[in-house]
Amino acid sequence: MRDCRRACGFGKSENGISVATYEYGNMKNDARALAADFDLEKLTPEFYLDPYPTYRALRENEPVKRLPNGSYFLTRYDDLVSAYKNTKLFSSDKRREFAPKYGDSLLYEHHTTSLVFNDPPAHTRVRRLIMGALSPRAIAAMEPDLIALVDRLLDRLAAKDDIDLQVDLISDFAAAIPIEVIGNLLDVPHDEREPLRGWSLAILGALEPVIGPEAFARGNTAVKDFLSYLEVLVERRRAKPGDPQHDVLTRLIQGEDNGEDNGERLTAKELLHNCIFLLNAGHETTTNLIGNGLVALSENPAQKTRLIEHPDLIKTTVEEILRFESSNQLGNRMTTEPVELGGIALAAGTPVTLCIGAANRDPAQFSDPENLDIGRTPNRHLAFGTGAHQCAGMALARLEGAIAISRFLARFPGYALNGAPTRGGRVRFRGFLKVPCVINQ
Ligand code: HEM
Repeated sequence: MRDCRRACGFGKSENGISVATYEYGNMKNDARALAADFDLEKLTPEFYLDPYPTYRALRENEPVKRLPNGSYFLTRYDDLVSAYKNTKLFSSDKRREFAPKYGDSLLYEHHTTSLVFNDPPAHTRVRRLIMGALSPRAIAAMEPDLIALVDRLLDRLAAKDDIDLQVDLISDFAAAIPIEVIGNLLDVPHDEREPLRGWSLAILGALEPVIGPEAFARGNTAVKDFLSYLEVLVERRRAKPGDPQHDVLTRLIQGEDNGEDNGERLTAKELLHNCIFLLNAGHETTTNLIGNGLVALSENPAQKTRLIEHPDLIKTTVEEILRFESSNQLGNRMTTEPVELGGIALAAGTPVTLCIGAANRDPAQFSDPENLDIGRTPNRHLAFGTGAHQCAGMALARLEGAIAISRFLARFPGYALNGAPTRGGRVRFRGFLKVPCVINQ
């Protein structure tokens, strides 16, 4: 790969975060080179730090980019919408694609049984059950507990800051919220929640485009341990069911209560793997929404002040954070028939990566897309995907993001990053592992 440092410089932002700056002297040629050399399997540290110059170069020069492994990488908003909406032409079934990557392993069994990686009719059946449990009424009912949880965490942050003189926005705040929310959703006892985060990170980490033997082993062990834990939990819940209006696990066990056995119930394997998926899907993504949001506001002081002065902008702020630093940057599909995209012919059976992070900064859809504008409307971003697989938990994620960010800001308006945050080092899930911060200013 050509050395991107010809085109990209690395400096420090006002908060001390390393940021990539782009010298536009020979911009067109450099952008063309950046696009020509792009390989999802050979990414540079600079890319992980700031992928957006590369996304832009791809969008402008090779929006339907053939990668060395024969797959295609899409970066234009309209192309992503076409692929997401045409579920017949662009399949989500990953059995063929994951077989060489995972072999005959528990990771293979898990990912290919999750609803997100299935097509109808398996997908429709599982989705209907999950959507029923995540109805607007069920989510509204979670709000008081969520506010109480966030306020407890804020109290703890204040106490910790007094002693240690700094806190970590991720482990002390952002990551603690979704794990409790999803734990409540499946009614996992509080003292059994500790391993959930580690399992989740290991299983989702195995979805990175390239994984080494250690990440593979970690992912498999996590699926094994998670399954063993859930088998016990399901047995206990079968013996003592909860209220299916609030307890998703009871709802999934019972299937749809439509008065007749019409095959809606999940098999034992489907039940366990989709519980794992649900716990994972709502965890790292929402942690990243909160963490990315607090860092982005800190890096954009004018927008932070605007939100402090106009707290009613919190809903559009959450949408803008989802667009600007999408927690889930990549989606995947496989063509089922020959198809043409942007003048390029793709054969049937071609794997396609949908780059949400690039589409969400496409100037054909968003004005001034590289800038954070917390009042942006309309904002039809693709952070939750779109079409038949659109995120089933998006209303919950939005609620968590809005409550966490607005209450944090109201309590600690002078918060400031304290040293460089540590990036998660993943291309699919964009977020931070650690964000040192001082809050009591
Ligand atoms: C900021 C937080 C979140 C982001 C950015 C996000 C993103 C996404 C995206 C992009 C998809 C579509 C995948 C595809 O089409 O290939 C998806 C699917 C899904 N998400 Fe989320 N998600 C978030 C939070 C949540 C939460 C909190 C839950 C559950 C409590 C959840 C549950 C699901 C489920 C069940 C699916 C599969 C839907 C299907 O295949 O029909 N997500 N999510």
